[in-house]
Amino acid sequence: TRIDKGGHKHFMAKEIAEQPHVIGEALNHYLTADGTGINVPESLPDFRGVERLVLVACGTAYYACVTAKYWFERIARLPVEVDIASEFRYREPPVTDGTVALFVSQSGETADTLAALRYCADKAAHVVSVVNVPESSIARESGTALPILAGVEVGVASTKAFTCQLTVLYLLALKAAQQRGHLDADALTDRLSALRSLPGILNHALAQDRSAKKVARKLAEADDILFLGRGLMYPLAMEGALKLKEISYIHAEAYASGELKHGPIALIDKRMPVVVMAPKDKLFDKTVSNMQEVMARGGKVTLITDEAGLDEAGDGVTNTLVMPTVPDDLAPILYAIPAQQLAYHTAIAKGTDVDQPRNLAKSVTVE
Ligand code: G6P
Repeated sequence: TRIDKGGHKHFMAKEIAEQPHVIGEALNHYLTADGTGINVPESLPDFRGVERLVLVACGTAYYACVTAKYWFERIARLPVEVDIASEFRYREPPVTDGTVALFVSQSGETADTLAALRYCADKAAHVVSVVNVPESSIARESGTALPILAGVEVGVASTKAFTCQLTVLYLLALKAAQQRGHLDADALTDRLSALRSLPGILNHALAQDRSAKKVARKLAEADDILFLGRGLMYPLAMEGALKLKEISYIHAEAYASGELKHGPIALIDKRMPVVVMAPKDKLFDKTVSNMQEVMARGGKVTLITDEAGLDEAGDGVTNTLVMPTVPDDLAPILYAIPAQQLAYHTAIAKGTDVDQPRNLAKSVTVE
């Protein structure tokens, strides 16, 4: 089938807009017909017998893995190690038959991820992959391949594949929690029904595109941008910074908010835009106090939060993007949208090639 831009200026814009639909497809695939259970292939190991989960990937898929670590540890009480494939493969990490090694890849062809997979398969680990291309090498060489059903992704900067990866990883964390006795039937049903309402909520976030565009016009003037987040918002801050540098060529980096005073605070002045991702969750007050340290030094803050967060901490902030309220664990999937919109519109303002950024490839099949 021929893939076109479907009326959008860029594939990236189209793929950002498709997210509610493709996440809905993934949910239809993995949820049982009555919506109270999660379907997984027979070949997937039972997480009761698993000692350790190792998550390995590159680029955006790696940030999906870092997010998933928080979910697997907190909800399923499963020890998780997460690493970049190019580091993992040469570290000679101990891997045993009590290990599930999970590889996340949009293309399923990334050379380092495939090599890391082969290393684990050799050591008798259970090899599971979360992939977008079901006939890819990584899918074929896995004991269990879980499709993310994002459809073809053309833009080099990954968008819909990221949120579909998150959706599948979250479902897997719930499955593991259920098997390990940390999630009863009622709690699971609640979480799944919240997940079912996510596509509609994502549409509300997409509708904020104009606000993101306004903020992006200002970000486009910066030389460096700092992204801050805590807990589940930390990997998302990393993904936001990655998206921005990939397509706008502005230097961006992400820090866990709590690390601010251990270095990056030295960079803060009035020329330094700081994007703070902070839904009103348990860590909100901590993030806000870090944000205030930034503002006290003249840093220009863009706060991405929800209504309650805005009420509590909106004073003195330069820009705000207000998201719908969702359960804490679903926030990374929702907050990915403003991160993508900011990168997209900043790139447009700078006039760069959004779909084909310089020096980057969609899939890195050589080392
Ligand atoms: C390249 C792409 C990224 C992608 C990464 C991993 O760097 O430009 O968008 O996240 O590879 O690719 P994979 O196909 O393994 O997810």
